[in-house]
Amino acid sequence: MNIVVVGAQWGDEGKGKIVDYLSSGARCIVRYSGGANAGHTIVSGGVQYALHLVPSGILHTDTTVYLGAGMVIDPEALFGELAMLSGKGISWEGRVFISDRAHIVLPRYRTLDKERDSLRRRPIGTTGRGIGTTYAMKSERDGIRIADLAWKEKMADLEEEDRAFLAPWISRLLEMKVNLTYELWKYKDQRILFEGAQGVLLDLDLGTYPYVSSGFSSAAGAAIGGCIGPRAIDKVVGVFKAYSTRVGNGPMPTEFDENSQSALYRFVRDTGREYGVTTGRPRRCGYLDLVALRYACRSNSIDSLALTHLDVYDTLSEIEACVAYNINGNITEEFPSSVEDLNAAHPVLKTFEGWKSCLKECRSYGDLPDAARTYIEFIEAYCGVPVDIVSVGYDREDTFIRREIWAG
Ligand code: GDP
Ligand code: IMO
Ligand code: MG
Repeated sequence: MNIVVVGAQWGDEGKGKIVDYLSSGARCIVRYSGGANAGHTIVSGGVQYALHLVPSGILHTDTTVYLGAGMVIDPEALFGELAMLSGKGISWEGRVFISDRAHIVLPRYRTLDKERDSLRRRPIGTTGRGIGTTYAMKSERDGIRIADLAWKEKMADLEEEDRAFLAPWISRLLEMKVNLTYELWKYKDQRILFEGAQGVLLDLDLGTYPYVSSGFSSAAGAAIGGCIGPRAIDKVVGVFKAYSTRVGNGPMPTEFDENSQSALYRFVRDTGREYGVTTGRPRRCGYLDLVALRYACRSNSIDSLALTHLDVYDTLSEIEACVAYNINGNITEEFPSSVEDLNAAHPVLKTFEGWKSCLKECRSYGDLPDAARTYIEFIEAYCGVPVDIVSVGYDREDTFIRREIWAG
């Protein structure tokens, strides 16, 4: 069975935590998009792991993990991350493989990313990890793939600076190289989890273009970036927060007003620890945007939702969520494609009663207070998708499922 885990907002929904949770039942985990722009956090046994390239199933030592063809890989970042895992006692040797079709990020691409963004009239707010430049080189058909490391003529054609950078990593990367389609075929009757990075609203096509990343972070990206066909995907799990966050620039219709709602803004940012894992930048925060979430569900065939950060709202007496947009006087429940419309969109809010109690110890749906269940059931009815996983804290343990995800 093949399950895709996709971020259903603008990234940082808690994908790392949910992938880790579901990995206890998986044979393999395949990360299918993005690069070291991602930051996936797992907290287990009091230890925090921040992963950028290595799939979030790595902590389960009976799994094999793959960096897929849709990824762009900075070798320096990858081996730094693997060393970090070794330092924390996680043995990964013989369990981490890379698609030979994945592209390589060079150090000068990081510089180029930052330079190009600073020259833009409307900067995107890139993480500066060389991601955009590497995907651009790939589209130009001038990229360097893992497979190319064994292609002598191609390597000889590289600039001296690039050859020098790659030299220390080549043999280690080649040892980890696999032809992913054939590799995954071996496990076709077992459980494979496909891990997305970023989120639907940062996807190159489905996101808030041009304020997006440059990979296919939506669920469809799992088919290409994971080297399987679209019909091999059995289920899509969309991860979302009880509210919205976004890092970097671009439209965010439900962002709290920094002046008139400064207390709420600060409360959510501090309680949710909303600071980027990769850059440390404070995340923008706002109401749950159900217009955007339903769009993510429909455009990604999301079968099952995983709700995270419900605990962040524990102390509020009232909670609001966006159920429509008012765009220049027109009320719509459709998520617009144009940045201009998104910038003009004002949220139409629905108010919910707060639960005013601590959810951290809840381990079943029945443990949740009525008000929390009302919030969840409204989300399910609005999106037409069940909330099957609920996360009430950052620790691996602070999670429960309502329906078995790996069941057919
Ligand atoms: P990802 O990029 O989607 O994997 O998410 P990040 O790791 O970038 O950001 C999610 C942050 O929220 C991390 O610091 C997690 O430890 C934390 N987190 C995940 N789930 C929950 C939750 O249910 N409640 C709280 N309070 N924090 C959570
Ligand atoms: P995870 O996997 C949140 C954002 C950046 C910027 C835009 C383009 O942790 O959810 P890029 O570096 O790709 O050129 O940046 O996309 N961005 C993310 N925001 N979570 C992420 O990944 C992100 N990856 C990229 O902030 O606005
Ligand atoms: Mg993140």
